[in-house]
Amino acid sequence: MGFTMGLNLLLLVAMVATNILSLYHLSTTIISPKPPTTSPTPNPVPDHLLRQLQTIRATINHLTRLQPNPSTAARASTSPVPSDLLLYTNLSPIASACRHHPDLLHRYMNYTPFTTCPAASSAAAEPLILRGCHPLPRRRCFSPTPTKLPHALPTNPFSPIPESSVLWSSYKCKTFDCFNPDLGFDVKKEKTKFLSYKTDLDLPISQLTEIAKKSKTVLRLGLDIGGGTATFAAQMKEQNVTVITTTMSLGAPYNEAAALRGLVPLHLPLQQRLPVFDGVLDLVRCGHAVNRWIPVQAMEFLLYDVDRVLRGGGLFWVDRFFSKGVDLEEVYGPLIGKLGYKKVKWAVGKKTDSSGVKNGEVYLTALLQKPVSR
Ligand SMILES: *[C@@H]1O[C@H](CO)[C@@H](O)[C@H](O)[C@H]1NC(C)=O
Repeated sequence: MGFTMGLNLLLLVAMVATNILSLYHLSTTIISPKPPTTSPTPNPVPDHLLRQLQTIRATINHLTRLQPNPSTAARASTSPVPSDLLLYTNLSPIASACRHHPDLLHRYMNYTPFTTCPAASSAAAEPLILRGCHPLPRRRCFSPTPTKLPHALPTNPFSPIPESSVLWSSYKCKTFDCFNPDLGFDVKKEKTKFLSYKTDLDLPISQLTEIAKKSKTVLRLGLDIGGGTATFAAQMKEQNVTVITTTMSLGAPYNEAAALRGLVPLHLPLQQRLPVFDGVLDLVRCGHAVNRWIPVQAMEFLLYDVDRVLRGGGLFWVDRFFSKGVDLEEVYGPLIGKLGYKKVKWAVGKKTDSSGVKNGEVYLTALLQKPVSR
């Protein structure tokens, strides 16, 4: 098979990832128990669908073979396959990562259509997403929701979050009080965040809006990457700025809490392309979820995706990024520098907790402005 054709198939894979898995499910429904309802008996899977499924599976195998390894590196270097595609396929395989986790995928897709999704299958979604298997296939079952309704949902994001509106079964804690108060579930504590200036690493919202005004940048739309319970969005709402927040529910109901506060949570891992169009945002913020634990190459793709979604003149706020001091100078500083943004603020301070002292870590808080033209 020629490489050009292979490349076309790569793109096909990216486009039909969701369909693959629906087909995967379709091809396994024959052996799953029939729903005990009066719904029509499913017909056997037509031959052409099975053939299509086989083609798609072969394509995924082909994609996997394209990933460079020592034995094929020489071939890959002379091939017309874009090197960035190969690189990114290693970092976050385009949904083909699903096939590396058949056990999780089986658990996720193991349900009876048209009935309630089993709790175990729902809980399998996030481990798949975190392993690069995203987007997930759609399912035809009813996701469980809390059966106790609160008297009223709060309209103020700093009102207490109604506990009965969370399905606690997937979490060790069963109340918000049980979590470490720094995690973002204590709204009283959240109310004071982003407002005060204690060290140079702080950038209170009043200062942010002042800087924006001075540089004639209107702030209306923003994105907070890894924003926990969406407190930044809550504070910006008071400024009439709409901020959407990417957040996972790893160990705690961050997505649920953000939504219950009336703020938009995007269930999205850090390695995923941001689901907004090019040049549409006035502001992007990265909180401490973005730090030295992310592989440098993944970080580079993340930064360029931030650049993609920001409009010219838009602001990029790196809020307390931490790394080893020497890495900030030699790796991350130059990496951020490649964007060619204007440094409105650049503050570095020692990370003084025990792991920070042990590893010689520092924090960086930077406010950067995207150039209007390159
Ligand atoms: C936000 O909008 C409301 C309603 O239009 C207005 O009363 C309020 O002053 C605005 N707040 C800010 C900080 O601009």
